[in-house]
Amino acid sequence: MTHTKTPNFRSAAWFNNPDNPGMTALYIERYLNFGITREELQSGKPIIGIAQTGSDLSPCNRHHLELAKRVREGIRDAGGIAFEFPVHPIQETGRRPTATLDRNLAYLGLVELLHGYPLDGVVLTIGCDKTTPACLMAAATVNIPAIALSVGPMLNGWHKGERTGSGTIVWKARQMLAAGDIDYEGFMDLVASSAPSVGYCNTMGTATTMNSLAEALGMQLPGAAAIPAPYRERGAISYETGRRIVEMAYEDLKPSDIMTRQAFENAIVVNSAIGGSTNAPIHLNGIARHLGIELTNDDWQKIGHDVPLLVNLQPAGAYLGEDYFHAGGVPAVVAELLRHQQLPHPDTLTANGKTIEANCAGVVTDLPDVIKPFDAPMLEKAGFLNLKGNLFDSAIMKTSVISDEFRNRYLSNSNDPDAFEGRAIVFEGPEDYHHRIDDPDLKIDENCMLFVRGTGPIGYPGGAEVVNMQPPAALIKQGITALPCIGDGRQSGTSGSPSILNAAPEAAAMGGLALLQTGDRVRIDLRAGSANILISDEELVQRRALLEESGGFEVAESQTPWQEIQRSMVAQFDKGMVLEPAVKYRDVAHK
Ligand code: FES
Ligand code: MG
Repeated sequence: MTHTKTPNFRSAAWFNNPDNPGMTALYIERYLNFGITREELQSGKPIIGIAQTGSDLSPCNRHHLELAKRVREGIRDAGGIAFEFPVHPIQETGRRPTATLDRNLAYLGLVELLHGYPLDGVVLTIGCDKTTPACLMAAATVNIPAIALSVGPMLNGWHKGERTGSGTIVWKARQMLAAGDIDYEGFMDLVASSAPSVGYCNTMGTATTMNSLAEALGMQLPGAAAIPAPYRERGAISYETGRRIVEMAYEDLKPSDIMTRQAFENAIVVNSAIGGSTNAPIHLNGIARHLGIELTNDDWQKIGHDVPLLVNLQPAGAYLGEDYFHAGGVPAVVAELLRHQQLPHPDTLTANGKTIEANCAGVVTDLPDVIKPFDAPMLEKAGFLNLKGNLFDSAIMKTSVISDEFRNRYLSNSNDPDAFEGRAIVFEGPEDYHHRIDDPDLKIDENCMLFVRGTGPIGYPGGAEVVNMQPPAALIKQGITALPCIGDGRQSGTSGSPSILNAAPEAAAMGGLALLQTGDRVRIDLRAGSANILISDEELVQRRALLEESGGFEVAESQTPWQEIQRSMVAQFDKGMVLEPAVKYRDVAHK
């Protein structure tokens, strides 16, 4: 391959520094011991990192250990040298108390590696929920040429002739167990059926969302997000990704050139069209902040709310990851948006050096039941509302997962079809919820709203995915499968509950949720975008004074040093849950 530009790569400061031959020799000698020659290290070729997120601790991304071999071959064939290194693992389902704790830790670690080692470009191996934002945040801060590579979703899960989607099936299986329809063995079989191969969750959970958005942002090769992990195309795109990052290093094509404000606006629209997870605003707002771009939950509502849902994947729809791939994945979704002038910025640059329009225009899906036509979508107005009131300054509601049953019960029976009122039942975290949800003294009926607090970035360090709370078993047996759920925690993207979540400021930061009491009446007005406790301002002030006097909202003690460190400096969900002191660092590769 011939390269038009021959920049002086930053790795030359380590391996090719004539001003300091002594240091150069020291830097070089230890890398020689795995068989690289001095000639290679001093050839002027770019050194390309492969940021490896796969390991035995992170099974969703583990297949990257295999794919990295193809990435290396691509890097080598294009004239680069590959250095593979580990990223702090983040396994969504295995990490206690919550995987979110580690997004910022992996970010910090990766920033240090990309800054402190002789790397001229990096392949970010993304997949399981938080691995994607952690990698993109680090790439944003360091700003060396970077390209992302999804590990790909698992194959479709099947059980008794029906698709079973990872994560989503757990909510259904729990309900079946609670209703006595299956026993524990049946529960295990049903859940395990949803995870038939290597790869990440095959539903439109946070993983498929964030991998799709990494492509929509322009940080992956076109089509790279949706290829299932075991497919041969996954190996091929790994090779192409390796080749392309070498060219990007020569072109000095950096994350800040690709992830512009316009690219984020495109991603917000794509997120609505795919029915993306409510974790997306947290992560995208966070990535944007590390690029110096202000992105707010108001932007999400303004740009994203009216966009229809096109992708028919569980939990909002019927299909799974393999179907999404065969239907054309992100390029088919973007093409349909382009055909209807719905992508706000068709000319944003992507990792392959072309615009998103050049990459996607004209793609037509072969499976119009999986990726629906814009004129006949799954649902109109599939984006998020950003609710505000005396309960919080900002909380997200994904309207596309509200079931018909819920709509009929709450939204059309009142005088105002967009408002619902109920009696608040307040839980102090997930443990309290599990202890008390079936307590008959709470008298939970179909007119109640379930609240959980103490579950935000500070309260439950990292923020717990617990807002989607099941009604008491007695109500489920009567056919009431969902109550409105509101909280300062998050919700799994694989859950279909009509929740109001990511409330900021959280109770632990003395947001309005801290003042709520069981028995209060609460009114949610979707048209006005408001969420209020129906008590007077005077009473709110009084409650706040009392709580402050008693020492403020109580949170559990930190269990580890990192929990304490992160709590002391973490931003609220609407501000991307980033580490505040990290935000001012930009372009650190050249510092
Ligand atoms: Fe890793 Fe869903 S648990 S992708
Ligand atoms: Mg999740």
